[in-house]
Amino acid sequence: MSAPKANVLLVGGGAVGAIAALNIEAGGLGAVTAVLRSNYPAVSQSGYNIESIDHGKLPSWKPTKVVNSVPAASESEPYDYVVCVTKNCPDIKPTLVDLITPAVTKGHTVIVLIQNGLNIERPLFEAFPENICLSGVSMIDSHEEEPGHILHEEADLLHLGAFRNPNLSAEKEKEAALAFIKIYSAAGKTKCPYNEDVPFARWRKLVFNSCLNPICAITGLDDARIRLAGAVEGLVKPACEEIIKVAKAKGIELPEGIADTMINLDPMDLYLKPSMQCDAEKGNYIEFENLVGEPLRDAEKIGVSTPILKVVYELCKAMQWKTMEAKGLVKVPPKRIL
Ligand SMILES: *[C@@H]1O[C@H](CO)[C@@H](O)[C@H](O)[C@H]1NC(C)=O
Repeated sequence: MSAPKANVLLVGGGAVGAIAALNIEAGGLGAVTAVLRSNYPAVSQSGYNIESIDHGKLPSWKPTKVVNSVPAASESEPYDYVVCVTKNCPDIKPTLVDLITPAVTKGHTVIVLIQNGLNIERPLFEAFPENICLSGVSMIDSHEEEPGHILHEEADLLHLGAFRNPNLSAEKEKEAALAFIKIYSAAGKTKCPYNEDVPFARWRKLVFNSCLNPICAITGLDDARIRLAGAVEGLVKPACEEIIKVAKAKGIELPEGIADTMINLDPMDLYLKPSMQCDAEKGNYIEFENLVGEPLRDAEKIGVSTPILKVVYELCKAMQWKTMEAKGLVKVPPKRIL
């Protein structure tokens, strides 16, 4: 008899989440209930249409279950994992903690955050002090062309490790990370290396996500045009240097040349739009608090000066307010008629 499959709740079935669900199901060690929002009607009816460099063409693929809201955990069959692949905007309600609380079983459910940014584990440690929390830093290039149609064009790479919670056993945290990696990579179609040093992986990605990403969103220039516009030397690179400096002050030594690596990550001739630019163009909220706000607050706390990040942060904050007004979350006083 085979061992029962891990019971996995996956929250957020967009481009990255769909491939995560597929990786877990393909290996046969996990059964995924996927919580979808905007693409729920399309996927619940006809499944995902996936074109994946790792998995091939799957014209009507569905995970074990597709639902449109976070289910409450059952006592007899609690979720072993809650994998969060949503955008994470702590300034917008409901927060991630609000969203997943019904599905988390105290001391049992392992929470996996496949999300960007810094200090994202803090609200979870506070809300679920007895649950292990894992970090996934995804290097995937996957897009949702239209609801349910996923184009996955570059091989998946997920750096996975545990967020260190000083109140839990480091050994148990590592075991949980390795157990999840086993489930995630059992099909042999994806790379999911164990990541001992989570802060390093997160600060490394911030060199892209705190700098080029918001600057593209603010200017409306994609990551090739921003280079062609001559904004690298005077703006993007100095922003990267600030992140590198903060990381260093926190004892994280990023590799030589990391700024150039991150700025030139994508080939010029693809004219790719980073995630925050895509979100801004779609009228969605941007993840600026975790990508820019948290490193900025860390810098302020330890007394490292980051004037460019501060300006980038304030511009993002103003953009977020604009989206909040467009979505009716804030109201302005009426305009005076002359
Ligand atoms: C660890 O536990 C202490 C005492 O309950 C608490 O004050 C602290 O916030 C906890 N630390 C984390 C990271 O959750």
